[in-house]
Amino acid sequence: MAERKRLVACNWKMNGLRADGVALGRDIAARAREPHRCELLVCPPATLLVLVGEALGDSGVALGGQDCHTEPKGACTGGVSAEMLKDAGCSHVIVGHSERRHACGETDADVRAKTLAAWRAGLVAIVCVGETRVEREAGLAKSVVEAQLTGSLPDAANPENLVIAYEPVWAIGTGLTPTMADIADMHAAIRTRIPSETRILYGGSVNPKNAAEILALEEVDGALVGGASLKPEDLWAITQAAG
Ligand code: 13P
Repeated sequence: MAERKRLVACNWKMNGLRADGVALGRDIAARAREPHRCELLVCPPATLLVLVGEALGDSGVALGGQDCHTEPKGACTGGVSAEMLKDAGCSHVIVGHSERRHACGETDADVRAKTLAAWRAGLVAIVCVGETRVEREAGLAKSVVEAQLTGSLPDAANPENLVIAYEPVWAIGTGLTPTMADIADMHAAIRTRIPSETRILYGGSVNPKNAAEILALEEVDGALVGGASLKPEDLWAITQAAG
């Protein structure tokens, strides 16, 4: 089996104006020109995609969107299509992030349609799954994630067009993480449901202190990083841990 190259993906969420986005992009690009052994991906807000893409230049750091519409174009005020992301320089798009599943009411069917839209535009879809605190405490974490995978993944998934991100909702932005055994257990369960060379990222309060331990787990192929990805020192420490 080919080695799954580690991926550290940065989700800036709704953070960054032009000046700080460009500065952060340049900082990441400069660090990425130093030796490192994982792939890097930056997902800024839509308004910054082109500028951050320019700041990343030829550093090898990929650019991604944080969400996309299902349609390529048309009457959808505020919508950003996968084709528009591609045109802005993206190679990836995050779909089904818990902040969209929960705050915007996105269903598995929506996530599936967005994944197909990403593929239509030639983008890699990073499909997010994860249970809430209540679901974990009720012993339902695995069945929830398995149902999300079943509902969200189209049949044509392969290692070139899909990355899975396991992000327990209760670990996002809270400083809390599951135990290493729980992360390993969930990633092993996800592995049984997807093609063997598809990467599975862990996300939720990844920071320089816990990154090495999380990234050493067998089926963890990288990280989807929120808050720490806005701090270049922290991001670089996580990147080194991934190597
Ligand atoms: P934090 O790293 O801030 O917990 O966010 C994780 C996340 O939601 C990445 O998509």
